Amino acid sequence: MKEIIEKIKELKEEKKAVILAHCYQNAEIDEVADYVGDSLYLSQMAARTDAEIILFAGVYFMAQTAKILCPDKKVLLPRLESGCLMADMINLAQLREFKAKNPDIPTVCYINSTAEVKSECDICCTSSNALKIVKSLNAEKVLFLPDTYLGKWVEEQLGNVEVITYPGFCPTHLRIREQDILDARKKYPDVKILAHPECHQSVTKLADYVGSTTGIMKYTTEHPDKKYIIATEKGVVDRLQRDYPDKEFILIKDNIVCQNMKWHTLSDILNSLEKEEHEIDVDRDIAGKALNCINRMLEVSK
Ligand code: 13P
Ligand code: SF4
Repeated sequence: MKEIIEKIKELKEEKKAVILAHCYQNAEIDEVADYVGDSLYLSQMAARTDAEIILFAGVYFMAQTAKILCPDKKVLLPRLESGCLMADMINLAQLREFKAKNPDIPTVCYINSTAEVKSECDICCTSSNALKIVKSLNAEKVLFLPDTYLGKWVEEQLGNVEVITYPGFCPTHLRIREQDILDARKKYPDVKILAHPECHQSVTKLADYVGSTTGIMKYTTEHPDKKYIIATEKGVVDRLQRDYPDKEFILIKDNIVCQNMKWHTLSDILNSLEKEEHEIDVDRDIAGKALNCINRMLEVSK
């Protein structure tokens, strides 16, 4: 493994490449990553980098977003299988139908969506800035897609905006059930439960804190408690446990793993850098329109 890591580091330097890794990746990827974080942070880093190659250790829509932000750079995704099941729940025809049923309402798309979908939405958001983005529209009603649970959570938090949601969802986060939270409360009555807003409302309603990947990680570092129950993808628990060994992080249940996020291995990354594959391309016209949607978000979240 040491040898692979060294080879990747050499190639990065030789090819002026940068590696962006999402927190849900296998933790070993951090050994070679230049930036590790949530989807907002990684898109901000993609927008800023002066590297010639961006290798994305994440899912397809993330690499696509990096390509839209940096059309002149080469963007690589080591394993093409790494799609996001939620992003694939809405295509352009479905988006148009959703908008036609609810005309003249601003449309907010979660960054977990395809370039085509982004190209026909007004503004993008991630789980860490969704409240800020919806608020920035100063609208009585907004359309929100594809994640119905994030949309409904935003509606509940803001209280003065009607959020009309598309029925998409994250299969990984929906594995966490209300009963899991009730069981955890019983077993660990004094331990705080932190949940991602992609979880079902029956789960987020019972959590002590609801926030994005970064929000959850920050919460545990800013609070004195020594033990936490984490209701999101396993990668978050692995990183927290590695970085804060004096605290204990309990994954709400065993199978909260996004398999699509776990495809990339260090060997895949080495292979991808050596062969410069798989290159992500986005139609120029679509990319131009999708860029407006992403840039509006980056502007609001500055
Ligand atoms: P974050 O915005 O928290 O990185 O979440 C991305 C994601 O895909 C969560 O399932
Ligand atoms: Fe998509 Fe869910 Fe995986 Fe995130 S955890 S990448 S929303 S399938």
